[in-house]
Amino acid sequence: MKRVGVIGVGKYLPKKILSNSDLEKTVDTSDEWITTRTGIKERRLAAKTEATSDLALKAAKDALLDAKLNPSDVELIIVATVTPDMQFPATACLLQNSLGAKNAVCFDVAAACAGFIYAISIAQQFIARGVYKNALVVGAETLSTITDWQDRSTCVLFGDGAGAAVLSEVKSGGIISTYLGSDGSMSELLMVPAGGSRNPASYKTIDSRLHCIKMRGNELFKVAVNTMTHAAEAVLKQAGIKISEVNLIIPHQANTRIIAAVGKKLGLSLDKFYLNIERYGNMSSASLAVALCEAVKEGRIKKGDTVLLDAFGAGLVWGACVIKW
Ligand code: UT7
Repeated sequence: MKRVGVIGVGKYLPKKILSNSDLEKTVDTSDEWITTRTGIKERRLAAKTEATSDLALKAAKDALLDAKLNPSDVELIIVATVTPDMQFPATACLLQNSLGAKNAVCFDVAAACAGFIYAISIAQQFIARGVYKNALVVGAETLSTITDWQDRSTCVLFGDGAGAAVLSEVKSGGIISTYLGSDGSMSELLMVPAGGSRNPASYKTIDSRLHCIKMRGNELFKVAVNTMTHAAEAVLKQAGIKISEVNLIIPHQANTRIIAAVGKKLGLSLDKFYLNIERYGNMSSASLAVALCEAVKEGRIKKGDTVLLDAFGAGLVWGACVIKW
């Protein structure tokens, strides 16, 4: 088995910023409520002309530049997204075309906020077994297109963006362990009820706003804390690494209070976690991808560091990954 690591990272955030005070003008909320209950100050919104694959393209180009690879060097593209450009073809195929990555095998992964870790885990296995040499893993979302902008309990939370990582064989370090979990019995806590075969699009589904995110936030909060703690502990045990040996944790950015509660359970203060939720809100699969990129570019991750990725999302799904940088 080959040793697999991240050899390049990239990101793209749409230009348009939607602040908490902007939201105060459209729904019954306040900057004070959003800041204290979630940690979010602002989020990005894709332009009308920008679909998920457009965001993914910019993040992918950034990551390939960082990895010093050409699009033709990529043999596998996995896009983690719950907001694909369309039902089919896969957003990964659309990205392949716009990127000019003619030699890549392409598919999407729908594992919501844990999608980036799921995609990393899949890509790692293809490379470790020598099937493909270089993989491009992208987390990209335009959650603004499935957000109910009249529902204050959800519209303050989400944002758009994309992050990417290039995975390849490395001589030292790399991915030490990944851990994934799923529990479909709690799928009703977070979903987009219509638009699939269960509730195909109709005037009724549109009038009932069933094409938008429905979330039972309060119930989800507790499960998020427990599963993210469990995933972190499980992946560290698998890797044979103590929590004290981890230099930085990059958590899914759903709520600063969730991250603080996970930290408390793990016996860690908030400064062990990389946070960018204040600037971007929850971008589902893109949250971890963008956070990983920013942590590297800001020098929060240095060569030799042990990094823990930890996420949780709709499905329910969760996952964690330990990487020696
Ligand atoms: O991405 C992965 C999945 N997502 C998550 O894991 C999210 C998990 N859940 C959460 O982060 C939190 O539950 C929320 C941020 C969604 C909500 O925070 P909360 O502290 O759980 O609030 P709550 O739902 O219990 O609501 C408390 C109050 C309610 O008012 P009453 O009934 O106490 O009068 C809500 O109506 O806050 C009210 N409220 C708001 N007030 C102002 C809900 N949303 C807002 C809002 N502005 N935007």
